[in-house]
Amino acid sequence: MTNHEVLPLLGQVADSVSQAIAHARPELAGADPVIRRSEHADFQSNAALALAKRARTKPADLAQALSAALADDRGPIARVEVSGPGFLNITVPDQVIWNQLAARLASPRLGVGTPHDGQRTVIDYSAPNIAKEMHVGHLRTTIIGDSLARVLGFLGAEVIRQNHLGDWGTQFGMLIQYLDEHPQATWHHDELEPGTSAVSALDELYRAARAAFDADPDFADRSRRRVVALQSGDPATIARWKEIVAESEKAFRDIYDRLGVLLTPEDSVGESFYNHLLADVVTELTEAGIAVESEGAIVIFSEEVTGPDGNPAPLMVRKRDGGYGYDTTDLATIRYRIHDLKANRLLYVTDSRQALHFQMIFEAARRAGWLTDGIEAAHVPYGTVLGPDGRPFKTRSGGTVRLMDLLDDAVARARAVVHEKNPELDADELDRIAEQAGIGAVKYADLSSSRIKDYVFDVDRMVSFTGNTGVYLQYAHTRIRSILRRAGDPDVDIDPTVELQPAERALALELDAYGTAVTEVGDTLEPHRLCGYLYDLARDFTTFYESCHVLGAEEPIRSNRLALCQLTARTLQHGLGLLGISAPERM
Ligand code: ARG
Repeated sequence: MTNHEVLPLLGQVADSVSQAIAHARPELAGADPVIRRSEHADFQSNAALALAKRARTKPADLAQALSAALADDRGPIARVEVSGPGFLNITVPDQVIWNQLAARLASPRLGVGTPHDGQRTVIDYSAPNIAKEMHVGHLRTTIIGDSLARVLGFLGAEVIRQNHLGDWGTQFGMLIQYLDEHPQATWHHDELEPGTSAVSALDELYRAARAAFDADPDFADRSRRRVVALQSGDPATIARWKEIVAESEKAFRDIYDRLGVLLTPEDSVGESFYNHLLADVVTELTEAGIAVESEGAIVIFSEEVTGPDGNPAPLMVRKRDGGYGYDTTDLATIRYRIHDLKANRLLYVTDSRQALHFQMIFEAARRAGWLTDGIEAAHVPYGTVLGPDGRPFKTRSGGTVRLMDLLDDAVARARAVVHEKNPELDADELDRIAEQAGIGAVKYADLSSSRIKDYVFDVDRMVSFTGNTGVYLQYAHTRIRSILRRAGDPDVDIDPTVELQPAERALALELDAYGTAVTEVGDTLEPHRLCGYLYDLARDFTTFYESCHVLGAEEPIRSNRLALCQLTARTLQHGLGLLGISAPERM
């Protein structure tokens, strides 16, 4: 197997048309050849229509000129026809298509290149808050961020995952004080009933602490002194805080393990990590004149964003009481990621309500000279998870939904549909497949909806065997694997002289476009494009399998078709892998 990149045919055809443009009309050299897949031929170029005006000619005449130029130097092109007002319908030789497939099959990377080589990309994702239950919003950032980490890593970027845990702040003073005053409160995982986690216990205790804080001024005072003790490093207070962080992280880890995400404990670099850098950041920003005093606080007034009152919106750099908050931490964080981690791409996967926060952080970082031209910083926003009623997802009683319960539910429903489809599976195998199908279903439902939009969490639809679902794609993969097993999983050679049938051709051209789909996700940071690609691929396979015999075909057709099956199975498995979804052998 070789590791060479296999250029997609669409790109090769685009190069040929570009050359034809430069040849026929030198003044148009460098223009976009406007190539896409076509119903009427393999590819279509709309360049003549797009460029006729600039060339001061009729589109049909320009199309003729390009077609003539292509006749001299065809590249991978068998036939060009001018159609309609000036479209070029382009057909590629069968042999070229077969050779593409053979080259992709021979490559462990399916011939996909590494356009992100040399990039160092920080992805900030998941980032739940200590002593609080993870909610469905954290599920989205965890799933989307993880898929982006996989895609960008595959495309050659050096990915640095950062789990910016909410592990610092005044609320911990309150909670620690409350725990000290209520030694009978249970919250360590080993004291809890099975099925309850330390974070849900802490979440409740935190609520109780908050209520006491609001109701009892003396407790409020003691809590404030605790905040000071925490910030000045009082050993007993710090020990307590560390215990709370460790217990919460254990609960988060359970979710991560269940989801099968890449995040490791080393990726946890929470807000507390930046604590020792905050004063220095404030000094730097103040000395540069970017941060200014306002009503006793230190703020940065935005030059881009205005608040509801029409005045420049402020970032809170230092509160009037001398404390630091979320804004200061994110300023220290961006400086650290640029100066210390030496990243040239910074991605923040959080819900869309934080858009202005990040816009202002990036603006401040640019003004401070940290964020320079060669570095890209982007907020990767996502919409809200809605319940079946179209309102933000809550339990029936209006509380936040525990993620573990949600995953249990998805797995239970996946188990039921898988069992119905295949009653033969023994209990162990059914459990294993149900876990893969249920978790895959939740991830796929999230990733396949357009990221910015809100999406409705509908478990029954997610685990359906039909439609654009994870289960459908996993099932499509198992069907192909079963065909290949029946054939004895042979090493096949492709005979490129075999004539392609239309359904084979459609499938082959789709397979050839895998790298293009993945690269698009790397550029747009929209995993739903990969989902759409895999769904189309699975459907092209179905059409192929309905119209072409595989196992019963004569050689060399049989081997070529087995090769199509192999490449489809591998592409589906690989693509699901980039979404963080496993592809079982049977289901
Ligand atoms: N902990 C925050 C939350 O739950 C998300 C943190 C996102 N990352 C960041 N660098 N601000 O909303």
